[in-house]
Amino acid sequence: MEKLKIVPCHIGIIMDGNGRWAEKRNLPRIFGHKEGIEAVRRTVKAANKYNIKYLTLYSFSTENWKRPKEEIEFLFSLMEKKLREEGENLHKNNVRVRFIGRIQELPPNLIEIIDYVEILTKRNTGLNLIFAINYGGRTEIIDGIKEIIKSGHSEKEINEELLSKFLYLPDVPDPDLIIRTSGEKRISNFLLWQSAYSEFYFTKVLWPDFDEKEFLKALLDYQRRKRKFGAI
Ligand code: IPE
Ligand code: IPE
Ligand code: MG
Repeated sequence: MEKLKIVPCHIGIIMDGNGRWAEKRNLPRIFGHKEGIEAVRRTVKAANKYNIKYLTLYSFSTENWKRPKEEIEFLFSLMEKKLREEGENLHKNNVRVRFIGRIQELPPNLIEIIDYVEILTKRNTGLNLIFAINYGGRTEIIDGIKEIIKSGHSEKEINEELLSKFLYLPDVPDPDLIIRTSGEKRISNFLLWQSAYSEFYFTKVLWPDFDEKEFLKALLDYQRRKRKFGAI
């Protein structure tokens, strides 16, 4: 079997297909979200194993507010519960947990545990595990521009480097690889600015079925890519 020699520094995942996973089994959609947590667990483990430095998981988009209230509430309470259960464990594993998105618009109970886990794991030096919650790429750029204006920068000072510094996590490198499950081939407002030169990997596997084997497939596919960044 092909050997893994080059791994991406930053992987972003659009975790899609929970609803369809449940529908296939004649179950309500929320069962797909529940099962999706197991895929998150497997993926974090695999990312650790293969020495990935940054893993960004798209968990709730700014457009997901269009879903039924019950589904949204379920998702937020599931996130809260799992963060409460897993926070200490992630900390023990030297994982630094971070969040991007308009966190301030989330329910107070969820914000509370987000803040707690972020502070708890702040000094950890292992995997950077980033949850994108109430995240939208366009919103992130708008928020950045607002901050630039507030801080009094002039038109002349505005360039790519400056805007990058005003995005949610300026110290995190752009994603090298973006994986999307469930067969959809679109970006759905994920890391728009940062994905300018990312490699994309699409798989038909539904998110709750995603595992280390699928993760490794994506890594092997990635190492066969020739990245050019506009050069020859
Ligand atoms: C992804 O699965 C999870 C979230 C967007 C929160 P979906 O819920 O979008 O599943 P499908 O696309 O309906 O199958
Ligand atoms: C993208 O999935 C958002 C997340 C995975 C959190 P969606 O299921 O919301 O995307 P669309 O609506 O199919 O583009
Ligand atoms: Mg979907």
